[in-house]
Amino acid sequence: MERLTPQLVADLQDSLLGWAAPRLRELPWRATRDPWAVLVSEFMLQQTGVARVLPKWSAFVDEYPTPAACASASLGDILRLWQGLGYPRRARNLHASAGAITTRHGGTVPDDLESLLALPGVGPYTARAVLAFAFEHDVAVVDTNIARVLARFAGRRLKPREVQSIADEFVAEGASWLWNQGFMDLGATVCRPEPACDECPWTHECAWRGEGDDPSVGSAGVSVAQSRFEGSDRQARGRLIKALGAGTVKIGDVARVMDRPSEVAAKLLTDLERDGLVVFHRESGSVSLP
Ligand code: ADE
Repeated sequence: MERLTPQLVADLQDSLLGWAAPRLRELPWRATRDPWAVLVSEFMLQQTGVARVLPKWSAFVDEYPTPAACASASLGDILRLWQGLGYPRRARNLHASAGAITTRHGGTVPDDLESLLALPGVGPYTARAVLAFAFEHDVAVVDTNIARVLARFAGRRLKPREVQSIADEFVAEGASWLWNQGFMDLGATVCRPEPACDECPWTHECAWRGEGDDPSVGSAGVSVAQSRFEGSDRQARGRLIKALGAGTVKIGDVARVMDRPSEVAAKLLTDLERDGLVVFHRESGSVSLP
């Protein structure tokens, strides 16, 4: 970004690090540098809020403390533990990543961007989060909170490539762990969709400052609110996966379990099978978890 002189970057780094150090939210995945535990937290946090992730993350890393332990469990067991987090394809991808880490990397989470990006379900965000939060590499993590702060700071909608490159310009070298966690917390607690600009350490340098159209709306990397859960396909699929956690379900009972008309249920069931989240047993006319 044009106006980012080295002096301005240094000032912004100092003010954010100074703001973050005493305020950083105490979260259990911030108390570890174990790359597997960090990877698990980042998979869970991709689409689920901190409050719901807290108990699940602890249960998961207790039960599966290493990639090999996770890889040797069945996907069904992983899905049972995932219950309540939603978006179960993440559980399947995490399980597949555990398998890939075990076979390709001898059970050790890799510490380079390319190998991380090659893992199932690991995109630019999750790969850089593992590098910054487990290995303390100087990389810029861009989640939806950070993308929102950057667009507002810039005062305009940013294009996908710009977001990462502006974030890269900001990384505080040698302090990237605190830098990225603090930046995330700034977006999560101050520069929220409804911002509290008077609490922001960057308020004097920000191009937006809460006045006029919000430049983060429609800017790259800023997610729109999740669609309604009540009445959604996600809800119906979740009901079936929950029921399957307790045992097999007859195909003829699936529509009732999902609480959807049978044509809708049939389509959702096909999707779940295609995604590898349920298995059909033709002989007994039932479905189960994998
Ligand atoms: N969301 C994604 N990663 C996070 C982290 N490390 N801490 C808090 N919220 C997050």
